[in-house]
Amino acid sequence: MTYARIAGTGSALPERVISNAELAAKVDTSDEWIAERTGIRQRHIAAEGQTTGDLAFAAATAALQAAGVDASEIDLIVVGTTTPDLVFPSTACLVQHRLGANGCAAFDVNAACSGFIYALTVANQFIRAGTAKTALVIGAETLSRFLDWSDRATCVLFGDGAGAVVLKAADEPGILSSHIHADGGYKELLWNPVGISAGFKDEPNHGLRVIMQGRDVFKVAVKTLDRVVEETLEANNLDRHQLDWLIPHQANLRIIEATAKRLDMPMDRVIVTVDKHANTSAASVPLALDYAVRSGKVQRGQLLLLEAFGGGFTWGSALLRY
Ligand code: UT7
Repeated sequence: MTYARIAGTGSALPERVISNAELAAKVDTSDEWIAERTGIRQRHIAAEGQTTGDLAFAAATAALQAAGVDASEIDLIVVGTTTPDLVFPSTACLVQHRLGANGCAAFDVNAACSGFIYALTVANQFIRAGTAKTALVIGAETLSRFLDWSDRATCVLFGDGAGAVVLKAADEPGILSSHIHADGGYKELLWNPVGISAGFKDEPNHGLRVIMQGRDVFKVAVKTLDRVVEETLEANNLDRHQLDWLIPHQANLRIIEATAKRLDMPMDRVIVTVDKHANTSAASVPLALDYAVRSGKVQRGQLLLLEAFGGGFTWGSALLRY
């Protein structure tokens, strides 16, 4: 049996950090409100001209270096993103060329905040099937580009960044299972109402913005994440106490705490980066994973549960032995 194992991780964050206090000087909010309701204290925001592809390339370079893998060895690049540099070519193609990995398969996956779990699932299937031996999986976003900076309900929540993993075929797990789902019936609880085919609006930023019914999203997210972690444990015949680390999507500390409670995990076994990164959508899980690895928290051989929930709705999880 062939499995996909994480050979290395990497991440990249824009230099510019915006604190809650800085936002409070621009919109009617406060550090107290943001920190209490979300756990967010700051976010990184891309510089003018700095793209999702730039961040993805930097994260990929770090992951390849950590894995000791040369770009020429890559068979597949999958980028989870909702904020690609261009309509086409895909951000994966742009990153591929900059890495010098020309010739391998490369494409983007749009599953909003679940983008990395979706991309990881796709790459895992390629490796399990024997179609690829080495895959680069990236979650990268510059959501700041389409935030409405006058809307306090959304602009305080998001940040920019990228995270990446190199997967290699191995005889031992590796990724034990992954579970991805979607329900398009929830489209209008969390969405951007314009696009190439639907058209743009005669509004600031052509109508591009995040529209979210926060309270409703919160409720569905908690329930849905409960279900997907149960599904993952059951599929692997695993007791929740056997998990070493929970590496959740970083949207809201209260959602993270609810999932941890469900798993009976103390918060010192949960990776939390939402305070420093805010919600970076598809980049959030791989950014948290890379932080966990580089800080020495996550060790080889440990059992990790990754999960995410986002617009669509989309959601998913992955259980892996690091
Ligand atoms: O990653 C994709 C998935 N996304 C999520 O998982 C996000 C899920 N939702 C959430 O995280 C939370 O619902 C929010 C953080 C977005 C909002 O927190 P909440 O505790 O649900 O607040 P709320 O929306 O119920 O708003 C409470 C009050 C309202 O005022 P009133 O009506 O009580 O007078 C809002 O107008 O807080 C007000 N408010 C703010 N006040 C200060 C909303 N945004 C702000 C703000 N600063 N930035």
